[in-house]
Amino acid sequence: MRIGVLTGGGDCPGLNAVIRAVVRRAERGFGDEVVGFLDGWRGVVEDDTVSLDVDACRGLLPRGGTVLGTSRLQPFGMQDGVERARGTIERHGLDGLVVVGGEGTLSCARGLHELGFPVVGVPKTIDNDISATEMTFGFETAIEIATEAIDRLHTTAESHDRVMVVEVMGRHVGHIAAWAGMAGGATVTLVPEEPFDIVEVCAVVRRRHERGRFASVLVVAEGARPIEGTMEMPEEEVDAFGHVRLGGIAHLVSAEIEHRTGFDTRVTILGHVQRGGTPTAFDRVLASRFGVAAVDAIHEGGFGMMTSLTAGEILLVPLSEAVTEVKKLDSDLWDTAKVFFA
Ligand code: F6P
Repeated sequence: MRIGVLTGGGDCPGLNAVIRAVVRRAERGFGDEVVGFLDGWRGVVEDDTVSLDVDACRGLLPRGGTVLGTSRLQPFGMQDGVERARGTIERHGLDGLVVVGGEGTLSCARGLHELGFPVVGVPKTIDNDISATEMTFGFETAIEIATEAIDRLHTTAESHDRVMVVEVMGRHVGHIAAWAGMAGGATVTLVPEEPFDIVEVCAVVRRRHERGRFASVLVVAEGARPIEGTMEMPEEEVDAFGHVRLGGIAHLVSAEIEHRTGFDTRVTILGHVQRGGTPTAFDRVLASRFGVAAVDAIHEGGFGMMTSLTAGEILLVPLSEAVTEVKKLDSDLWDTAKVFFA
């Protein structure tokens, strides 16, 4: 067979491990040939490719980012995108295409599958917000990075008896914030799923500081928002793909805390540090399992499906189940996280 692979959307640690696994399984397991598309769907629409073999994948397992490059471009948003993509797939005689991406990239894969494209999805994102899989690779690495940062902030916060506000990624969901906040012993964690009351947040901080030199570390997901009408919010900017440009809620929360409590407050925005660098062992293994399963799925004709981690096993689920809505925080986990606030 001839198999294509692309990585789309925001990058995350573990993408190269998937590429390596796809190539290894395809070449050594089945004698297939693999074509890599550059910069996600752009490479498919513009027929920009590299051929991949086991030798070309040496050293990829621990390497962050994606050697294929990535972009947020999609055939449905490009002129004659779908027809050009179809032409590329036919020209290369591809029997299947492994699409590694988050919600946007996989939604596009689902749309193309409905038009007859032989796609299999692999879910990736540090946000862990894809439905129908318990976990995406990249998430564990991100929460390790965020937790280490929170641990470090605790010691400097204590020395100066300060309030630290740490902003982590999480556009629609608070998985990173909730996990890293719990692992790092956050005073309070703010997530997009539950609009916050700044008066309550300040009360928690005040109570803590009134007990003596108890510094606070607050973890805020970039998509967290106050209860409507309780805090002044600036106009939101939108990028070329219609995504609200986030990043900055921590500054607003910090200013409110300093103003309302008088405590010295500092902000740390972790940003893309959370997406860079080498994947954890767990993410390398999950990415490798997904890559192998995706090639097997192509050989079994499992088109329109996505690899999923379900109760520890790798299964195939319909792409439609994965992209219909984002996976929100589990309410049990969130209730447990809240036990440790204050
Ligand atoms: O979707 C993953 C993600 O890292 C989000 O957490 C974040 O909001 C977004 O990507 C940032 O996108 P960009 O790299 O385009 O700034």
